Amino acid sequence: MKNQDEIVIVSAVRTPFSRFDSAMAEVASIDLGVMVMKEVIQRVAVKPEEVDDISYGTCILAEAALETDVPARQATLLAGFPAECISLSLDRACCSSLTCLRLGVRAIKAGEAEIAMAVGAENMPRTPHLAPGLRRGARLGHIKLIDCLFELGYTAKGFNPVAKDAGEVALEYGVNREMQDAWALGSQEKCAKAYAEGKFKIGEELMPAVIPQKKGEPVVIEKDESPRNTSIEALSKLKPIYGSPTVTPGNAPTMGAGASAILIMPRRKAEERGLKPLATIVNIVASATEPRGIATIPALTIQKSLDHAGLTIDDMKLIEINEAFAAMPLVSTKILAKDDAKKWKELQDKTNVNGGAIAIGHPVGATAARLTMTMAYELRRRGGGYGVAAICGGLAQGEAVIIKV
Ligand SMILES: CC(C)(COP(=O)(O)OP(=O)(O)OC[C@H]1O[C@@H](n2cnc3c(N)ncnc32)[C@H](O)[C@@H]1OP(=O)(O)O)[C@@H](O)C(=O)NCCC(=O)NCCS
Repeated sequence: MKNQDEIVIVSAVRTPFSRFDSAMAEVASIDLGVMVMKEVIQRVAVKPEEVDDISYGTCILAEAALETDVPARQATLLAGFPAECISLSLDRACCSSLTCLRLGVRAIKAGEAEIAMAVGAENMPRTPHLAPGLRRGARLGHIKLIDCLFELGYTAKGFNPVAKDAGEVALEYGVNREMQDAWALGSQEKCAKAYAEGKFKIGEELMPAVIPQKKGEPVVIEKDESPRNTSIEALSKLKPIYGSPTVTPGNAPTMGAGASAILIMPRRKAEERGLKPLATIVNIVASATEPRGIATIPALTIQKSLDHAGLTIDDMKLIEINEAFAAMPLVSTKILAKDDAKKWKELQDKTNVNGGAIAIGHPVGATAARLTMTMAYELRRRGGGYGVAAICGGLAQGEAVIIKV
């Protein structure tokens, strides 16, 4: 008999991820969150009042600020959860929705919750420009507008743009521009193949995003909007961004909107309810390193998780490493392969088998839960096994989760 105390994923869903210029760009991230929060419980007939704990990640705070504070609380109430439901808004940059899952696991293990939900919601294109100082009046001179999306690099406080650190460190690891462009092309091709094979489908990982219009029928988005046809020739012509030696718009993800949610409970509870778990959570950890090491942190976090679980990278049938840029999966698989060229190739072959953020998109707060569910559904298609998903975020923080299907 399986361990009844193990924590299992019983439901996992996301909206499609949008492009910058999308109908979704007008929808508040809170409303995207509401969509997935309703859907993830409906699919398994869990009632709102049965969910004890909701952690909600969102990390483009300027967009959330359009609705002022506590996005988790607002989304919880708007999605029809009772006023007594405990929720938490959190920002651990791109790691956020896996951080939410980790907190949900903790709450269940601590006996504080029986059913927990992890949510990630983001709308990057809706991010307003900031006009600091206006509250005190602008007596004379030009008004300065700040674009919080530009460079995504915390440059105001002296940190580098992420693309600069990632590109420079990639070169130090022998991961050059050509390798990053080749990875980017592979991401697009693997994603196109997965779509052609019906892997990203409504009712499984995806739900439709239904966007009401002022006039006429709602716009319904059923597929990710970022995947594109490209070639090595086209990729190699693109200019690097934000002072990076290697990162270009082609080997980076676009900025989009989207939301994802995962529902967890102890296996005992799932069995009582007649639910077939999608995956068992074996281990989930966080880590952090020097900001410059952002491309290395997925590897370090995966290794920490494997060590905690008493497993090795060879036990993993599939790996997901977020393509914050192509540099991340390349550098991190190289570290995990310990400079063994054959092993490095093997690890690359089982990483992001259905494409990654470069093709699918990267609405930052929603991505980590997306990696987890993409891998869970794919492991199920492949007859089960272990998988590890990892993500880097904001000044080299990391989250990793090992699941078993
Ligand atoms: C990379 C980034 C700056 C691009 O922004 P953008 O300039 O608005 O993006 P676009 O989609 O217009 O792409 C720029 C150009 O590259 C081209 N391009 C993009 N991807 C391409 C591809 N795969 N093949 C060929 N051309 C491509 C576009 O067609 C466009 O060309 P144009 O200028 O001739 O129209 C922006 O998406 C970004 O900052 N992404 C990274 C987000 C991020 O940092 N996430 C978090 C990581 S931790």
